[in-house]
Amino acid sequence: MFHGLPAGQEDPIIALMLAFRGDTRPGKVDLGVGIYRDSEGATPVMSAVRKAEQHLAETQETKAYTALTGDPAFADALRKLTLGDAASADRIAFAGTPGGSGALRQAYELIARTAPDATVWLPDPSWPNHMAVLDYLQRPTRTYRYAAPEGELDRDAFFEDLASIPRGDVVLLHGCCHNPTGIDPAPEDWTRIAEILSQTGAVPLIDLAYQGFGTGLTEDAAGLRHLAKTLPEMLLCISCSKTFGLYRDRAGLLLALAANDADRTTLQSQLTLLNRNAFSFPPDHAGRLVSTVLADPVLKAEWEAELTAMRTRIRTLRDTFTAELRRLTNSDRFDRIASQNGMFSRLPLEPEAIRALREDHGIYLIGDGRMNVSGLTDETIPRVARAIAETTV
Ligand SMILES: Cc1ncc(COP(=O)(O)O)c(C=O)c1O
Repeated sequence: MFHGLPAGQEDPIIALMLAFRGDTRPGKVDLGVGIYRDSEGATPVMSAVRKAEQHLAETQETKAYTALTGDPAFADALRKLTLGDAASADRIAFAGTPGGSGALRQAYELIARTAPDATVWLPDPSWPNHMAVLDYLQRPTRTYRYAAPEGELDRDAFFEDLASIPRGDVVLLHGCCHNPTGIDPAPEDWTRIAEILSQTGAVPLIDLAYQGFGTGLTEDAAGLRHLAKTLPEMLLCISCSKTFGLYRDRAGLLLALAANDADRTTLQSQLTLLNRNAFSFPPDHAGRLVSTVLADPVLKAEWEAELTAMRTRIRTLRDTFTAELRRLTNSDRFDRIASQNGMFSRLPLEPEAIRALREDHGIYLIGDGRMNVSGLTDETIPRVARAIAETTV
């Protein structure tokens, strides 16, 4: 049965992670894989999450199954955190999922069931796994123009393409901290996005994996909240991997906003069935940590302070790194990095320079130039900037 099975295609980001692990050179720098790193290069368990975990260990009396769509308290807490009061609960169906990837997968499955011919439109570029999974599912996809080469939103092209997307198709937008570019629409751009989508009838699918990493918890959700308020339907895929540091524990949520309560009821039954057919029950432990943190004002404040510290660290790194690059290259070529958002930016480097950084200097970037800004430290910034300056002369 298995003889002759072709090898599965390697995920480039995971392959890079493994190559980094196998590199024995001292001083190697991992700017590839998308996990937050502190000033020591570590990804510690957040202290509010650890406290919630201790509390849960002491008080949890059963690990019996919950519901097919997961613990409603988790869904409710995340709904409030992401949507605020932009949409009332009676418009929203939900499904707990294994991480944000699970939420995206279930969103694609839902689209396939409800609108089999709908094309899913992705920004160019996007997180590679968006296209990879849609291709795997053999879903129709197209891309819309998003990022200009100089590292800003390609506004005219973006809006032109957005306006051309027909009714019933789905537009995937990054809620904030666009991966891989760090380029986000400004508040007035979100207003325009809402106007266009309400004219065309295309449905937004928001991927929200970095709320709080850009400008703030509320600010980072303002755009998607505006869409939720303005448009009748929307899909929202939430990941708690980065925001609660729960990467391996897999907490995620799909929220489906319907135009009315009757549609919501049907949607809820479909989401329940999709979970049953995929994995029955979503992971519970990590979601329960999230709802424990969000329900307790003291833990919530502690978590927000930790998230703020992460965001502030990334901002400072962006500023220092950009200043160093400007000094060493004597050009403004890298300046946009300072104003981009979240963990990622894409360095304007040729593939040859990216290869040289890896092979000659032990500095690992994704092949398209994406770097994880939080992988830098005060100690490595001068070295990384010097290596970049050397490879780009
Ligand atoms: C844009 C984006 N969406 C979704 C995810 C999914 O995260 P996870 O499945 O680990 O929760 C990631 C993770 O890197 C991401 O960068």
